[in-house]
Amino acid sequence: MVHGSAGHKNAAVTLSIVIEDSNGRRREVPARIGQSLMKAAVAAGVEGIAADCGGSLSCATCHVYVADAWWPRLTAAGADELHMLELTAAERRATSRLSCQIVIDDSLNGLLVHLPTTQY
Ligand code: FES
Repeated sequence: MVHGSAGHKNAAVTLSIVIEDSNGRRREVPARIGQSLMKAAVAAGVEGIAADCGGSLSCATCHVYVADAWWPRLTAAGADELHMLELTAAERRATSRLSCQIVIDDSLNGLLVHLPTTQY
């Protein structure tokens, strides 16, 4: 369930991100500054992000589609990530990223990403 953007009571520590599954169900999960989106999602028990390699950029099973409105706020993917994005199971789109490479900062509070239908 989405409760809107999180308050800033503990903004220095915890922000929130919104993950929408391929059926359109949204879930808000806590994320710490400096944490990867993948780690935050896995810690919250989000299904649909497998992250088999644990974030070492060698599995492409942490694929997400970043919502268009948020795309400009992200730092660009590096060459290694771009290479791994060629190996995603679900179709690669213009806003595809590997969530282990998205590092949460305070400009990403409320970040919305969509999950692909499959990671395999
Ligand atoms: S967790 Fe394996 S590439 Fe992101």
